[in-house]
Amino acid sequence: MLATGEGHPAIEVDIAAVKFLTPAAIVAILARCNRWKREGRDLSLVGVESCENLGYLQRIDFLTHLGVEIPENFTRRAASGRFVPVQTLNFASGEVDRIASEITRCTLPDANPEDDVYRILQYAAGELLSNAKYHSGGRAYVCAQFFPTRNQVRIAVADDGMGIRGSFVNTSREDEANTPDAAIRLALQPRVSSALLRPNPNPYAGQNHRGVGLSITRILAKEAGGQLTIASEDGWFDELHSTEQARPRPAIFFPGTLVAVSLHRDQIADYAAMHAEAMSQIGMGSIDTPGMFME
Ligand SMILES: Nc1ncnc2c1ncn2[C@@H]1O[C@H](COP(=O)(O)OP(=O)(O)O)[C@@H](O)[C@H]1O
Ligand SMILES: [Mg+2]
Repeated sequence: MLATGEGHPAIEVDIAAVKFLTPAAIVAILARCNRWKREGRDLSLVGVESCENLGYLQRIDFLTHLGVEIPENFTRRAASGRFVPVQTLNFASGEVDRIASEITRCTLPDANPEDDVYRILQYAAGELLSNAKYHSGGRAYVCAQFFPTRNQVRIAVADDGMGIRGSFVNTSREDEANTPDAAIRLALQPRVSSALLRPNPNPYAGQNHRGVGLSITRILAKEAGGQLTIASEDGWFDELHSTEQARPRPAIFFPGTLVAVSLHRDQIADYAAMHAEAMSQIGMGSIDTPGMFME
């Protein structure tokens, strides 16, 4: 669905056959549709009556964020322990730390904030949200789910902003980031931050943008037996169990930025050690204050 729609004034989103969507699919569709709407396209939802799992799409607030209100014939229970209904933020609104904590609390209700798995998820969620808020210039959607049988947490953030290549425009490394794929590679390099490469960087940028957020999230995902996937325009990066995956056959064009991370809960033993290892891998040495990890 994300590959189509270009040049069409009206777009139909057909949910008839939808039984389940991963967090990445949920937020990607919402960010894509939001952008179409912003561009003045006429967006409509079809297949609602025959949708095989309408209650699920309502519970995760997928329909609400498409601007569709359908009466709910179920009682809403706390989503705790399985999924987090979609939340949004942009530069002007939405607090990164609060949303990250909510995601972590909902997805891991039995963990406490000192637990290793809690801290790693809080870090990854915080990084992805902060990137969408400060770099994208658009609106971001975030969603997370816990899959108990696989002991796996999945989190995804998608925005309808300028894309990763767009973030390097008018910076000193714009030429290196001249394709969406090259821009993603550059963004994944440790200590590369577009915020610090502008002709007149904000003097405070250095504190919040050290260019290590994506690099560390990538290493943490590897160490937790997980996956990191990034899509921006037609650029694509996908790494599972430390192995880069071949580009998927269908060409994906996603104008903003989508970043999805999965982590295996039982493979997270010692957050502090994992973090120290990640920092040393990117040549940052060890760090003693946990607050410094927030990028
Ligand atoms: N959602 C996004 N939209 C646009 N650009 C992004 C996004 N996320 C990351 N980037 C780009 O990737 C770069 C590296 O991100 P990161 O490693 O988190 O470092 P930092 O946030 O400290 O700059 C950012 O500086 C920015 O240029
Ligand atoms: Mg960052």
